[in-house]
Amino acid sequence: MLEKVELLMKSHIEAIGDSHVLGLYEKVPKGKRLRAKLILKIASQNQQAIELAAVVELIHAASLLHDDVIDDALTRRGEDSINALFGNKTSIMLGDILYAKGFFELSKLPSQVAQIISNAVVQLSTGELLDVELAHEFNTNAELYFDMIYKKTASLIEASATAAAYLAHKDVHKYAIYGKNLGLAFQIIDDILDITQNAQTLGKPALNDFKEGKTTLPYLYMYEKLTQIEQEKLLALFAKTLSEDEASWIQAKMQDTQAITQAIQHAKKLGEEALQMIADEGSTDLENIMKAMIEREF
Ligand code: FPP
Ligand code: MG
Repeated sequence: MLEKVELLMKSHIEAIGDSHVLGLYEKVPKGKRLRAKLILKIASQNQQAIELAAVVELIHAASLLHDDVIDDALTRRGEDSINALFGNKTSIMLGDILYAKGFFELSKLPSQVAQIISNAVVQLSTGELLDVELAHEFNTNAELYFDMIYKKTASLIEASATAAAYLAHKDVHKYAIYGKNLGLAFQIIDDILDITQNAQTLGKPALNDFKEGKTTLPYLYMYEKLTQIEQEKLLALFAKTLSEDEASWIQAKMQDTQAITQAIQHAKKLGEEALQMIADEGSTDLENIMKAMIEREF
C-alpha cells in the first residue's frame, strides 16, 4: 500500500511535465512516511486514503524543503539536503511546487478532508514561525514549547488521523486525539534524540538544536534543576558552537538532573493516553506505531 502512495506521489510530479522538477524531486531524501502509514492504517479499505496519504506526504516534504533552508540544515535523514545540493532558492521553489501540487490534488478530495488538511498547514506554518521566534532567546516557558510543537508537528499528524477516520466513517474525535498525541510524542522523542544520539545515527550533528537556539523539553526540565551557577553556564553556551567539553557537560547534566528520563516519561504518558483513546477500536497496528515511535533511536 505504501508503495502505491510512493508511485502516486511520483505520478503527480510527473504530471507537471517538467523533467528538471522531476529530477529534483527524485533527490529529495525519503522519510519514514509516518503520516502515510497512519492514514493507511486508519482508512485501509478506502481508495481515497491512498490519495490523501500522497497529498499529505507531498505537503510534508514541501515543509521540510522550507525548514532546511530556515534551519540552514545541510543534511536531511542522513543525506544531502536539497539546499545543500542546489542552494536555498531551489529548495524554496521545489517546496512551493510540491506544496501547490499537493493542494491541487487535495481539492479533488471531499471538502471536509480538504478543510482539515489545509487548516493544519496554517497551523504548521504558524508553529514554524513560533519556533523561529522562540530561538531568539533561551526559553524557560514549557507551555510555549508545547504550543509550538503542537502546531509545528502534531497538527498535520492529527489532521492526517482525523481525515482518515472521516474517510473510513470512524470516530473522528478518538483518532484526532491519537494523532495529536502521536505527533507531540514524536517531536519530544526527536528533541531527545538530538541530545542522546551521535551524529552518525542522527544523520546530522548532535546537540544541534541548542546550537540553533532551540530550548527543547529536556533543556526546560534540566534548567529547573540546575544550581544558579550552572544555569548561568548553560545560558552562556546558548546558541553557540559547542566544544567537546561543553557538549559533554550538557549531556552529563541531562543525565544527572534526570531531564532526559523526565522527557521520555512525558512522551510515554502521551502515548498511553492515545492508546486508551483507541483501545476499543481494536487496532494493534496503531498500538505498534505508537510504541515503535517512542522506542525509536533515530
Ligand atoms: C521540522 O522541524 C519542521 C516541521 C515539522 C514543519 C515545517 C513547516 C514549515 C516550514 C512551514 C510550512 C511550509 C509549507 C510549504 C507547507 P525541526 O526543524 O524541529 O525538525 P528536523 O530536525 O526534522 O529539521
Ligand atoms: Mg529543521
